[in-house]
Amino acid sequence: MTRYALVTGAGQGIGYGIAKRLTDDGYHVYVTDYDEGLAKAAAAKLGGTALRLDVSDPQSVKDAAGKVPELSVLVNSAGIYPWSPLLEISVEEFDRVFAINVRGNLLCMQAFHRQLAADGTGAIVNITSMSALVPAVGVGSYAASKAAAAMLIQQAAIEFAPDGIRVNGVAPGSVQTEGTNRPIQDGEEPQKAAFIPLGRLAGPADIASIVSFLASGDAGYVTGQSIVVDGGFLSNTFALYRHATQPA
Ligand SMILES: NC(=O)c1ccc[n+]([C@@H]2O[C@H](COP(=O)([O-])OP(=O)(O)OC[C@H]3O[C@@H](n4cnc5c(N)ncnc54)[C@H](O)[C@@H]3O)[C@@H](O)[C@H]2O)c1
Repeated sequence: MTRYALVTGAGQGIGYGIAKRLTDDGYHVYVTDYDEGLAKAAAAKLGGTALRLDVSDPQSVKDAAGKVPELSVLVNSAGIYPWSPLLEISVEEFDRVFAINVRGNLLCMQAFHRQLAADGTGAIVNITSMSALVPAVGVGSYAASKAAAAMLIQQAAIEFAPDGIRVNGVAPGSVQTEGTNRPIQDGEEPQKAAFIPLGRLAGPADIASIVSFLASGDAGYVTGQSIVVDGGFLSNTFALYRHATQPA
């Protein structure tokens, strides 16, 4: 029996890595992105179904949900991370960051709830960030949005538990993606990084494998949790001090 997964922001970066991993796990994946060209190219590579889905646009979310009859796994990966010191954050930037990083998660969880509940063992995995846990100069709107997104995971976990839907999160550290201007090719090793205890940056596959676990029956008694995937960075006090006091 075919099981279906849907990933937002899957045209590139972490979202694409997750879509690839879930395809390898045997799911038919709805590869969604607000950039339709990216979604189509990615879906063609994976053999999935491309859908345009702008998580910041309620109508777009609704339209996409209408095209997905069945769903076992929803992964909210779409996100933006503009850099602005607090005194320079505009109303437009703040609202856009929250519309995508927080409200987008909520809208997708609402829109796909019916399909996930029908599956009986639905799973939602939302991608937050280590920035949900620690401040860093210049990421104020982003860090606040990811902290809000982390609480939304816990909230959804208790409200959706009676429907058989588990809700968990993955909080990545520094990941090489198009968005961070350090994309990584399939099979390529991530860059070395002395300030990270495990000695390197992450690749999307490092995040995707944890999503795969949380989506699977092996995590069937886990809900409301976020797993930090940062190579030990947040445990490295001196590096953390530098992270909190110097611009990225
Ligand atoms: N890269 C990192 O170091 C890092 C670290 C922690 C958390 N994250 C989080 O991981 C997620 C993915 O990050 P990434 O580095 O892969 O980013 P990325 O910029 O490489 O890719 C993001 C994808 O999301 C899509 N997108 C943007 N706005 C959208 C919208 N409104 N609706 C639908 N799709 C939209 C983009 O088109 C793009 O394909 C984000 O939520 C980000 O906050 C990334």
